[in-house]
Amino acid sequence: MATLTFLDSKRTVTDPVEVAKVLQAANVIYEKWGTERLPANLSSRNLSDAEKQALLKAFDTEIQHLYKTRGYKTADVVTLYPDTPNIDVMLAKFDKNHNHSDDEVRFIVQGRGVFTLFPKDGEPIDAELHPGDFITVPANYKHYFRLCADKQITAIRIFTDPAGWVANYID
Ligand SMILES: [Fe+2]
Repeated sequence: MATLTFLDSKRTVTDPVEVAKVLQAANVIYEKWGTERLPANLSSRNLSDAEKQALLKAFDTEIQHLYKTRGYKTADVVTLYPDTPNIDVMLAKFDKNHNHSDDEVRFIVQGRGVFTLFPKDGEPIDAELHPGDFITVPANYKHYFRLCADKQITAIRIFTDPAGWVANYID
């Protein structure tokens, strides 16, 4: 379940309905897809191709709906964990203020991670996402991303074009 922390006031929000409302007001889409349909016995770290395909199949209804309604065209599964080669180099690409020309669309499967979001109006928000959480950070929206101390996350990524997800670094 997602936890929001407003960076100035330090107010936190954990109620899922309130989380969705706060993020909607910040122009970020949040949905709770839940963990009930996650395939049983997923390996906890480096997923096999078969496990990745099973994951995409389990959430195919949502993914197909997003293709139809928002024009996305591809989806994949990414796993980062402490032994991932060059993980610190990869993480360093995400942890500076940036935006993308496409939406950043993620469903968290395992582990957790934090998007720091900078709404046009209002204070910045840390959105710590956990398994079952779905988020869309819109195109051209200032944000950055980091893992938590355990440095582990598995997520479904949904794209218009993976090339559109290159980070544009901004102040
Ligand atoms: Fe990003």
